[in-house]
Amino acid sequence: MSGSTPGRLSPHSSAPALGIDFGTSNSAVAALDAAGAARLLPLEGGLTTLPTAVFFNAEDKTVHFGRDAVASYLAGIDGRLMRSLKSLLGSSLIQEHTAVGWGEQRFQDVIARFLKELAERARAGLPDTTTRVVLGRPVHFVDDSPERDAQAQASLAQAALSAGFTEVAFELEPIAAAFDYERRLSKEALVLIVDVGGGTSDFSLVRLGPDRARRADRSADILATSGVHIGGTDWDRKLNVARVMPLLGFGHTGPQGRHVPNSIFYDLATWHLINFQYTQQVMSRVQALRPDYSDPQLHDRLVTVLRRRLGHRLASDVEQAKIACSMQGEMVNIALDEIEEGLTASLSPPEMAEVLDDQLAQVVACAQECARRAGTARDRIDAIYLTGGSSALTALQERLSAQLPGVPLVHGDLFGGVAAGLAYAARNCEFTKFA
Ligand SMILES: Nc1ncnc2c1ncn2[C@@H]1O[C@H](COP(=O)(O)OP(=O)(O)OP(=O)(O)O)[C@@H](O)[C@H]1O
Ligand SMILES: [Mg+2]
Repeated sequence: MSGSTPGRLSPHSSAPALGIDFGTSNSAVAALDAAGAARLLPLEGGLTTLPTAVFFNAEDKTVHFGRDAVASYLAGIDGRLMRSLKSLLGSSLIQEHTAVGWGEQRFQDVIARFLKELAERARAGLPDTTTRVVLGRPVHFVDDSPERDAQAQASLAQAALSAGFTEVAFELEPIAAAFDYERRLSKEALVLIVDVGGGTSDFSLVRLGPDRARRADRSADILATSGVHIGGTDWDRKLNVARVMPLLGFGHTGPQGRHVPNSIFYDLATWHLINFQYTQQVMSRVQALRPDYSDPQLHDRLVTVLRRRLGHRLASDVEQAKIACSMQGEMVNIALDEIEEGLTASLSPPEMAEVLDDQLAQVVACAQECARRAGTARDRIDAIYLTGGSSALTALQERLSAQLPGVPLVHGDLFGGVAAGLAYAARNCEFTKFA
């Protein structure tokens, strides 16, 4: 493990450990039970996922997590919602402070606070406490920058230490997902694991099977991995910019024949940057844009979104529309009455396929790259195992099937497979021990 905090390696051990999948959108925790099977632990009212969301309630100075955090924000309570915190790992923003309604917090500390809460809730469902953790990590936290990638992992390790863990190990998320799937196999198979989440798309080509599952060293079974920093939150952003932001002036031509400057629309549609748009500085800049609009009503809407801090609500509405449009295969409406009575946007399956075309192509190319790296002919792959919420996107499944014709798609556990696999990985991981 790379990290700024000094540590030493501890030998493999059978002491209990938590497997924590700190996801861009959802987090989950698992531990092995007495029989050696991974169990997902209840995190919020019996549910085994906790949306990766933190809400700082400025009215009573309380901090809320998960669904409760999102509900508090949606109820209109004055405060600060933070989502997609994982996307900040590896960026310079991670050490920055942000106003939370009563003072300031470093993003690094917000992540530590979230992990601590996650661990405390998970431990409540266990007979023994443990301070050992296997954390999942994407193949690349940051594309094309090993330095920033290492920095991202070090920040996550640091957050785990701040959250009270003393022994930390990492495992790749698409390898963890494979270990979980392997428990369901009755014979050997060569499987392309596809883990498409909120922030990243990760792939591994692995040899799995009941006999192999018992081996301590699995390195020979991992034929290749690949990953790209594209996931469901990027699709929300693209769909938001394409279908909602034009109603606030994106792409609008002003009286001088120029488009309204567009950076505000991209930032307002990017989950982890939404909070940065609520400063007085941004508001002044946006107010100064009024002469750039031919239609002042569009400008009024943008000002309303900033003043009422509706950015997360819009992102969430677009996300729900994406899911509904994919699942129902028909056009869905997005009600925007909060901005203006009667205002709506819409999203149809062909529009969605067009807007996401480039990014879906990149994700599928990354999957093919994984098979290419292993030098494996597609007809030797026995199955494509789908996990991660965004793997449910119909348009993505269609493209994968078109590129790997004849290889069956296996629909896995969308939200719990990585955490379960991390609990299995704990038996063979090398932990870094911190005094
Ligand atoms: N039925 C669905 N169809 C399409 N997308 C979906 C569906 N259900 C959930 N999603 C999307 O899945 C994403 C969340 O998936 P998941 O919880 O696996 O991600 P994560 O593990 O938090 O992210 P990552 O692994 O990238 O850090 C969100 O972008 C969500 O909009
Ligand atoms: Mg994930």
